[in-house]
Formats: sequence, structure tokens, C-alpha cells
Amino acid sequence: MSEVYSHDYEELWEGSGFARNPYDYRPLRVSASDRELFVGRKKEQELFKIQTAGSVGGIVIVEGSIGVGKTSFVNAMLYDKWNPENKKTKSSMKSYTYLPSIETIELSENIEPSDFMLTVLSNCIFSLEKIHGEKISDSDKNLKAGKELIASTVRSGIDGFSISILGSGGGVNKNKMAVQPATIPLPTIMNIMDKWFDTVIKKFGYEAVLVPINNLDVLSEQTVINFLNSARDTLLSRQHVWWILIGGPGLFSTLETKARRVSELVTGQPVTLEPMSLEDVLEVVNTRLEKFKTNEDAKPPIPQGTIEMLYQVSNGEIRYIFKRLSDIIYEFRATFPSERTIPEQIAKKSLHNLAERKLDALNLTVREREVLKQMSLEKSFRIRDYSKFGYNKPQPMQNIVSKFLRLGLLRRVERSIREVYYSAAGDVNLVFRAS
Ligand SMILES: Nc1ncnc2c1ncn2[C@@H]1O[C@H](COP(=O)(O)OP(=O)(O)OP(=O)(O)O)[C@@H](O)[C@H]1O
Ligand SMILES: [Mg+2]
Repeated sequence: MSEVYSHDYEELWEGSGFARNPYDYRPLRVSASDRELFVGRKKEQELFKIQTAGSVGGIVIVEGSIGVGKTSFVNAMLYDKWNPENKKTKSSMKSYTYLPSIETIELSENIEPSDFMLTVLSNCIFSLEKIHGEKISDSDKNLKAGKELIASTVRSGIDGFSISILGSGGGVNKNKMAVQPATIPLPTIMNIMDKWFDTVIKKFGYEAVLVPINNLDVLSEQTVINFLNSARDTLLSRQHVWWILIGGPGLFSTLETKARRVSELVTGQPVTLEPMSLEDVLEVVNTRLEKFKTNEDAKPPIPQGTIEMLYQVSNGEIRYIFKRLSDIIYEFRATFPSERTIPEQIAKKSLHNLAERKLDALNLTVREREVLKQMSLEKSFRIRDYSKFGYNKPQPMQNIVSKFLRLGLLRRVERSIREVYYSAAGDVNLVFRAS
């Protein structure tokens, strides 16, 4: 269920003055040590916490463009609301604690609500056991029933039945799904789940359970809407669960227009994450340099000027900035292992080369490259600006924008009601904007 990343080559950092890569681009996790790395977003933190307060549960939406820091934000908030250090809130003498789903849950195409419910329950059991010890599930009949439900589903999967919750990544070949699993009826699942959640609330004093559903933006809009509509009266209406839907810009307005019954369950306004300021990004880097330092005189592996340049070309897309910083470090280390800091000129050249190589690998036509260049120079544009790109009607413009979006060459930047803006991605700007 989790995203796949190339590993962090920790051994490469040995002797570098840093314990690990300060430009690690993986999302922050729900943990005390990662929480200390989280920077900024004060207003959004407040908003999120207010909107997920209380025991009733509901839906909260966190939206923002690719790589802006959505998963990290939600995980930092889950940590705060879990509150393992039992901090009291400013306004009351009580310390509130919410059970977080520690692993992120992702929706996949064609998932059945009942399968999805089982995934959710399994994730919650995992968290509870991680926090309270593995034996905890045996300490109560309702907790035991929850665990047994998952175990029996998995067993029926092994016995030659298939379960779609394993998804394509789980090694189940969808084409071979001739036999349907001995499906457990939805009401039974819901009943067991409700009792499990009730027990967690009553017995351990949690206010509610927090369940983030990640990456709604990678699925087609229709898939998301269909799923949410079908889950509206079952999954999404459970007591004591806060569902945190994480998606692209405009997720909330899409639900308002196309899944009204779901949007009615949403508490307040969406929490919208804009790109971080340059100051905040530099603070993220400096916080990590400090924390990971193993030697007092260790110098930053990459000069600040390079980070500023990446910030400019990517409109502050922090994941891209960290990804490229990591890329050039590993490339440089492979060539000059004895050198610990990369001079700014070399860093810059290496980023340009990398961007050129990525673009060349796509084999765009001459015309496509021209349009892309124009898009890069425009900073941001809409479909109805088609004439600027040499088109005489919107359709061909729409087609090329779709293709470029799919290839990661463009980003959706903002979305007011029915107006989508696009802008070129970092690598494209590195190639086409004169520096
Ligand atoms: N507020 C923050 N403080 C510190 N680090 C952050 C912050 N926001 C993001 N990061 C870092 O930026 C990188 C990207 O963040 P993250 O993966 O959370 O973005 P995302 O929006 O979920 O991306 P995607 O669209 O791919 O799901 C990670 O390395 C993360 O640690
Ligand atoms: Mg994410």
C-alpha cells in the first residue's frame, strides 16, 4: 500500500558529516522524530485541528498540488492529534488523543467498499497494536473479532480465492479471478467494525480514529466520485472516524458539484496547501542539516543558491526540489566520492543536464517542444489561451495539455470555479528558461 522509493543509500552518507540524506524526499511519517522536521503551515495546522475535533467523526479534505507536502502535513497532524506525550491543550486542562492510522491508505481503481473497509480496519488494528503492543487484540472480544475478521479474509484469499484488496501490487492477477471470495456481507463487516471502534474509544480513551486516504489525485475523477458515493452511507458514515481525503487542488469543489451527498458530510472548508515560501523551504533544509549533523564543522552538501534556483523553476514544489538535490548528490558522489560539497556551478550544470536527458527521453516532436517552450515562457496559462500557442481552437490545446500533464511536464497550479491554470514543471523550466 505504500509508495515505492529508491532507498536512501545511507552508507553513502558515512563519513560525510551527516547521518543521512538531509534532502530525503520521502514524506514525513507519523513519528516523534519526523514531527521535529516539520516546518511552517501554522494556519493550516490550526484549521485542520479544529475541523477534526470531537468524537463524532466526519470528512475533512486536504488539497494541494503535486509534491506540495500534503502527506507530510497530514502525518504531522496525525502525530499531534495522537499526542503520545499527552500534552494538554491551551484551552482546556484535558489532553485529547486520537488514534492515527500510521500507514497511509491508498484507494485503487475498481475497489469494492467492503474490501476497502477491511483495509481500513486492518490499518487501524495495525496502529493499535503498534502503539499498545501486539497482544492488545486478544484483550477484548470486540478487538479480537476485528482481528479475526481480517485474518479470515486473508485466509480465504490464500485458499485459492482472491481478494481485490491485495490490488495489482499484491501479486494477484486480476484475470485469474474466476472465483469470487466467500464475501462477508457488508452489514456484518460494519457491525464488527463499529464494535471495534467503540471499544477503542471507550477502553483506551481515544476521542476518535483518524484515517487518511492518500492520493485521490492519481485516480480518475470518476473513480473517486463513484467510490465516495457508494461509500457514503456505509464507510463514511461510521461514528468515531475522521476521514481525511487527500487530493489535488479542486477536490472539494469537484465533490460539491458532482457528489453533493458526500460533500455534505465534509466539515467546513478544505485545508488548502499552497507551495511553501522560500524561507520555509530553507528552514526545512537547515532543520535537517542541524539534526542529521554528526560533525560540528560539516558543511551543507549543496550551496543555498542551488536550492533557491530549484525553488524558482519549480514554483516552490518542495518534493521536486528535494528529489533533484538528492539526484545530483548521488551523481556527484559516484564521480567524486572524496568531495563532500558540490560547487554551485557544477550543481547547476548537473541539474540542467539531468533535465535535458529527461526531456530528450520523451521523444517529443519539434512542434511539441516548441509549444512546451512557449508554455514555459508564459509562466501560467489556461486552455482558452490557445491562440498564444499557435492553435486556432481549444481542442488541440486540450489534447496537448493532457499529454504534457500525463508526462509530468505541466502542473495544474490553481483552480477557481471552473478555471484551471497550468504551468510548466521544474525540469521544463530548467531547459527552456534562460538562466
Ligand atoms: N512542512 C514541511 N516541513 C518539512 N518537510 C516537508 C514539509 N512539507 C513537505 N516536506 C518534505 O517535502 C517532501 C514532499 O512532501 P510530501 O511527500 O508530503 O508531498 P505530497 O504533496 O504528499 O506529494 P505527492 O503529491 O507526491 O503525494 C518530503 O520530503 C517532505 O519531507
Ligand atoms: Mg503524498
